[in-house]
Amino acid sequence: MTIQTVILAAGCGRRMHTDLPKVLHKIGGKTLLSHVLESAFSLSSHHAPIVIYGHQGELVKSAIHDDRIKWVEQKEQRGTGHALQQALPFINQDDHVLILYGDVPLISTHTLEHLVHQTPKNALGMLTANLAEPTGYGRIKRDYDQAIVGIVEERDATIEEKRITEINPGIYVVSGAHLHAWLPQLTDHNQQKEFYLTDIISYAVASNIPIHAVNVMKHEEIMGVNDLSQLAKLERAFQYMQAEKLMHQGVTFIDPHRFDLRGELIVGKNVTIDVNVVIEGKVTLGDHCYIKPNTVIEGATIGAHSTIGPFARIRPHTTLAEHVHLGNFVEVKNSQIESHTKVNHLSYIGDSDVGHRVIVGAGTITCNYDGANKHRTTIGDDAFIGSDTQLVAPVTVAAGSTIAAGSTVVKNTEAHALTLTHTLNQRIKQGWKRPGE
Ligand code: UD1
Ligand code: CA
Repeated sequence: MTIQTVILAAGCGRRMHTDLPKVLHKIGGKTLLSHVLESAFSLSSHHAPIVIYGHQGELVKSAIHDDRIKWVEQKEQRGTGHALQQALPFINQDDHVLILYGDVPLISTHTLEHLVHQTPKNALGMLTANLAEPTGYGRIKRDYDQAIVGIVEERDATIEEKRITEINPGIYVVSGAHLHAWLPQLTDHNQQKEFYLTDIISYAVASNIPIHAVNVMKHEEIMGVNDLSQLAKLERAFQYMQAEKLMHQGVTFIDPHRFDLRGELIVGKNVTIDVNVVIEGKVTLGDHCYIKPNTVIEGATIGAHSTIGPFARIRPHTTLAEHVHLGNFVEVKNSQIESHTKVNHLSYIGDSDVGHRVIVGAGTITCNYDGANKHRTTIGDDAFIGSDTQLVAPVTVAAGSTIAAGSTVVKNTEAHALTLTHTLNQRIKQGWKRPGE
């Protein structure tokens, strides 16, 4: 069975009150639409997904930029039914059409596969969920025998209908033949003067087409994003889901509610992550790494037994070997640091290659940028760099060399020698008094 997915993503998201099209808002650093597409691409047998785009469409297309997608334009946004009508010319009679909403981002491939495979060939399959707080969603109407008879939108619902807690997540599977029969019949006779896709449920009932409903228990999967408050709630739900997956891989979180992963995290064994850690891009943490509070790591590989933070920032293209210590207020960018090296306080290491067992004193800065170009700094094995040193790149600190505190190093240093760039003229004024004394 080949599935034709259609994702509705043309709406403008007025309730967000932002300039960005709704489906380009992000959860876990990834757009809502990318989340939905990821689930669509993971389905076992599928045609290229169709995405209905419209409001700020060029922006949406260029942000997603994936040639596996068939983009179909909805010029005017006249409702979810009208959106799906635009896809009709590309839907075959014998397709199994899976309809997804671009603002319901966390639906899992597992749930979608279940819906598709459990729905009998001639039936209309749909998800439902029972929410304690159903406000805003379309409500499922059932008759006295509990058979589904239709969906009523919040805005069209009576007070009694608003009390219904079973809601419509907006995910359906139905044959192309049924859609060809039903979509042309939709009307806009409702409060919003829109063509509602949800009306196909009552058409199915009228034509005696069975409705197969799958109730979803994991509510974060079917929660929609209509405003920024729902976006924030879903972000936290998503972050907790990611933390849970990592805990199942053996990561110790001091507090899994205070963790943000906006990308992909690959972990070894016995990794500990303290509170308020943000991981972005692709990051690897080796065995026994300890990431201390308030640390940000982006696009880096961190070797086993390394300790990072608190308050450290590691930026892209950084690789740390084993047993590296980076302490508080240390920033490292585009650098390689070999094993057993320590940068413990208030330093900036950028565009550098740092050897084994190097000690970098507090407040050391690599001056890597001359205003136009970036230059590299090389620090050999066993170098000792005194506090408050500036290394003006391009420069090489020879293996085993020592740099006196407070030096400004503009030339390469020599192995096993002391480099100092200031004259020691410390003076003492005896009998001096503090102002006011
Ligand atoms: C819709 C459902 C509601 C359901 C809820 C689930 C309808 C009529 N209502 O309501 O029953 O409970 O989703 O989250 O379907 N879109 C277009 N073109 C348009 C209008 C919308 O592509 O002309 C897209 C939007 O970009 C969005 C999706 O369709 O991704 C849903 O639209 P939205 O306006 O958010 O519908 P809801 O009011 O949430
Ligand atoms: Ca919605």
